[in-house]
Amino acid sequence: MKTPEEFIKRCAESNWNFDYDQNNIDKSRFNVCANINGTWSKNWVGPKTHAVVSKNKEALNQVTANGQKAEDRFELYRLDEKWGMEYLELLNILPWKIYSAHIHLQLPGNMHPFHMDFPTIPHLTQEEKMKTVRRVWIMLDDWHPGQVIQMGNYLWTKWKRGDVAYFDWQNLPHGTANFGHQPRPIISAVGITTPEFENFIRQDYPSIIKTNDTE
Ligand SMILES: [Fe+2]
Repeated sequence: MKTPEEFIKRCAESNWNFDYDQNNIDKSRFNVCANINGTWSKNWVGPKTHAVVSKNKEALNQVTANGQKAEDRFELYRLDEKWGMEYLELLNILPWKIYSAHIHLQLPGNMHPFHMDFPTIPHLTQEEKMKTVRRVWIMLDDWHPGQVIQMGNYLWTKWKRGDVAYFDWQNLPHGTANFGHQPRPIISAVGITTPEFENFIRQDYPSIIKTNDTE
């Protein structure tokens, strides 16, 4: 077994302290900042036209170093005006500028090995990528046993449908697994921050956002 070279390199560029034993959760690194209370479909499997296969070599190096297949991480579907508008509308509630959004559907048995990502927005400088790009997750279903997300020292479980989470994706190593019996659908989105968004991601949970939908 080996630690992927690209992972070691990316960790060296991070500003996190890599103290995996600490128990505190730094809200500037991870925060469940809101819950969106509304309805949306369970149409989590997108059409073939929206199925995305990651071609980022450095990211793949990190997940396949110990023999795992990249396709065993999750299914990935791009959200745009042609498919998934109901999910994009959830993201548009947030005070930021969306750059890209996908559904990550992690099926029972899937695992996404511990890794570090990097923004790949071409027109931004390195500094802008680190300081202005933000990643948000919206959980599309309640947590089910056997589903886990690790970010830095924190293992997240027991989320609720509609939970909105921010995490410092540029600096925290992270990975996910589903060793349960239910699929785990989340929206993973990247956007450019605003002053309002910086306040939003530091809110205490639960800040409930009600949509116009009724259950
Ligand atoms: Fe990642």
